[in-house]
Amino acid sequence: MNRGRKGFTDVPRSYILGTGAYAPETVVTNADLEKMVNTSDAWISERTGIHERRRAQPGENTSDLALRASIQALEMAHTRPDEVDLILVATVTPDTLMPACAATLQYKLGAKNAFAFDISAACAGSIYGLAIADQFVQTGKAKRALVIGADLLTRMIDWTDRNTCVLFGDAAGAMVLGPVPPSSGKGSGILSTHLYMDGSQTGILLIPGGGSAHPPTEETVKQKLHYVSMNGREVYKFAVRALVDATVAALEHNGFTADQVDHVVAHQANVRIVEAVLERLKIPARKCHINISKYGNTSSASMPMTLDEINRAGKIKKGDLVAMMAIGAGMAWGTAMVRW
Ligand SMILES: CC(C)(COP(=O)(O)OP(=O)(O)OC[C@H]1O[C@@H](n2cnc3c(N)ncnc32)[C@H](O)[C@@H]1OP(=O)(O)O)[C@@H](O)C(=O)NCCC(=O)NCCS
Repeated sequence: MNRGRKGFTDVPRSYILGTGAYAPETVVTNADLEKMVNTSDAWISERTGIHERRRAQPGENTSDLALRASIQALEMAHTRPDEVDLILVATVTPDTLMPACAATLQYKLGAKNAFAFDISAACAGSIYGLAIADQFVQTGKAKRALVIGADLLTRMIDWTDRNTCVLFGDAAGAMVLGPVPPSSGKGSGILSTHLYMDGSQTGILLIPGGGSAHPPTEETVKQKLHYVSMNGREVYKFAVRALVDATVAALEHNGFTADQVDHVVAHQANVRIVEAVLERLKIPARKCHINISKYGNTSSASMPMTLDEINRAGKIKKGDLVAMMAIGAGMAWGTAMVRW
């Protein structure tokens, strides 16, 4: 899907009015993992860039993480919950398979005027959410859209499998979208979004059980089908190639060159993936904020949480060009180019 604005210059743009993030308090360090599986701090740090990750407490669910991030983002956007028209929760770990996590969040938030639904695009969920919300805001169907990436993958991994348990952490990130405010500079807003899917790659990263193909039974649990299953090497290769190509396409679409990008906000699955993408795009590493060392791969939360960190720190100046990108199971991926 290509949703740029070439030929649609009179369509009002949407803008990211507020951001928020939340990660549970409990920290699981690499040293903790050394006691659980046959791994080492050195291996995890070198191969992934991760030093620690957060793990939700029992009773703390995806909607609770999403709520904390949402409240922050709404505060920054000076938006009351009852002013929200649309809630999109990007998650592959909803509180319940039915109804949507967005329904639970809508109630907890008191956003009684919002319609709400979940997006299933794994680690690419927030970029999908941003692109969808952008359409609703542009067309005037929503004046305020709340997009949350929230995942609790520590409950979906096999803590005896060193291939996956060292990678993931729990968190939520949120963004509030609305029309570009008059105080923003000329030409600001979401300039383009591009979404992609290659469904031939479903087998390299998946949770095989628990859905309608393999409903939960004693047997599926015994076979551990309810846990994340991943071919790390294939995911790695695919991710680098896809993110580079997508970013080149986004830059070309807007008539930009890579050196015009001020900030890269990328989903962080592995620091080496991000570094390889930046190197191929010839974008200096200092333009990309990395926080995977503290949080691990937080799936759909990673990109909005990173955006919130640099936004709150005042690192993004008016007029800066922000290149956002994410990729996840599907394989699904996408980009957004944003003029702050
Ligand atoms: C998972 C990943 C870190 C593995 O790194 P890698 O350099 O590709 O490592 P390999 O898979 O080639 O494994 C190398 C060896 O380390 C071992 N290994 C795997 N996990 C390990 C761990 N936690 N500790 C120690 N050794 C480990 C493997 O068993 C393998 O051993 P072998 O050579 O004896 O078979 C990397 O492939 C990756 O990050 N892939 C992308 C994953 C991802 O992004 N997933 C989410 C997408 S949104």
